[in-house]
Amino acid sequence: TIASVVGREALDSRGNPTVEAEVTLSDGSVGLALVPSGASTGSYEALELRDGDRSRFGGSGTLTAVANVNDRIGPALMGASPFDQPGVDRLLNELDGTDDKSGLGANAVLAVSMATARAAAVSAAGGSLWRHLAGDGQVSLPVPLLNILNGGRHASNSADVQEFMVAPVGFDRFSDALRAGVEIYQALKSILRSGGHNLNVGDEGGFAPTLPSNRDAIEVVLQAIEAAGYRPGEQVHIALDVAASELWDADASNYHLEREGLSLDAGELVDLYARCSIEDGLFEDDWAGWSTMTQRLGDSVQLVGDDLLVTNIGRLQRGIDDRAGNAILLKPNQIGTLSETAAALDMARDAGWTAVMSHRSGETEDTTIADLAVAWNVGQIKTGAPARSERVAKYNRLLRIEAELGNAARYSGKEVYGRLGS
Ligand code: PGA
Ligand code: ZN
Repeated sequence: TIASVVGREALDSRGNPTVEAEVTLSDGSVGLALVPSGASTGSYEALELRDGDRSRFGGSGTLTAVANVNDRIGPALMGASPFDQPGVDRLLNELDGTDDKSGLGANAVLAVSMATARAAAVSAAGGSLWRHLAGDGQVSLPVPLLNILNGGRHASNSADVQEFMVAPVGFDRFSDALRAGVEIYQALKSILRSGGHNLNVGDEGGFAPTLPSNRDAIEVVLQAIEAAGYRPGEQVHIALDVAASELWDADASNYHLEREGLSLDAGELVDLYARCSIEDGLFEDDWAGWSTMTQRLGDSVQLVGDDLLVTNIGRLQRGIDDRAGNAILLKPNQIGTLSETAAALDMARDAGWTAVMSHRSGETEDTTIADLAVAWNVGQIKTGAPARSERVAKYNRLLRIEAELGNAARYSGKEVYGRLGS
């Protein structure tokens, strides 16, 4: 049973405070977890509790959330079984008492939800989180969506589109797919260097050059795929996260592309999309636009809802009913517990949708999402460029899991994209 729960203020990859939780069981097993934090957060995400005290970290301290872990969650979980994750997550929700986790803070709640799973994994599965969570279920190594060129809110003076990703689908093993992604990243670096661009990286480790247009960004990524010796559109696909909520101009009621100097309506923006996977192609309240986009592109393009769906089954149900999108991005901190994240995945699957497990732009060394992607057979993961250790930690964890699985390691590449064409 759970014997102690301790919270601490820790730091994320942008140097912002976050929450760490440590759960200790009566048999001595310890689980430690850290939560990430977004920059281009959706309006409908669960609440990330910040102190607002300007004298510490400019107001972004997490001491209130940490106190909620120590003084409120800890006492309530004493004696609970860590092997009953749904039961623990239900207790956390009851204690929070709100729809958006504003009672305790989603950062406090998720840290404890994850640390509980980790402690249980130490006790029952020698520390292997994916083994503990998978049980007898089917597991697989996910397709990595590597964000090799960063824009939008994650890099200044770069492209409007937030993420230009490569998806190495045409491989038999995760490690070969990852190697392709890394070689493409290095090829992109050489191309940018010879073009006289700066080689600084953005929040998720991708390069952040100042290019004349978003189209040029796609061109240079295609060049990098070829320069690394891979076939674009076949072995390696391009995926975008437009993060269109950030491009939406509410006064003008249209989307503004700074680089191109263009203001477009939803239809004109959708005309530019012919990629294998487009995340947040339109803004989070444009349900009608999402339905039209899905009607037009949904047969051949994976249309991923991030800000639109925020890992929330209420919003996902609407997406399914309205045929708005055909894939969900899973970010545990958008909803606050592992069980609710799993519920969103189950609902998406039942509707025939695909899913992508995801990091946040503010990350930590915590690798829980790598284990979740494998244990839940999610099929895809996006966790940044193969640069900056908070990103690479997830890829290294997946390499370790592949080795642990040996001959039983199955890579999702062909299966996931076989359904979507190119
Ligand atoms: P965020 O970015 O963590 O800043 O929200 C990631 C994403 O939009 O997918
Ligand atoms: Zn997104």
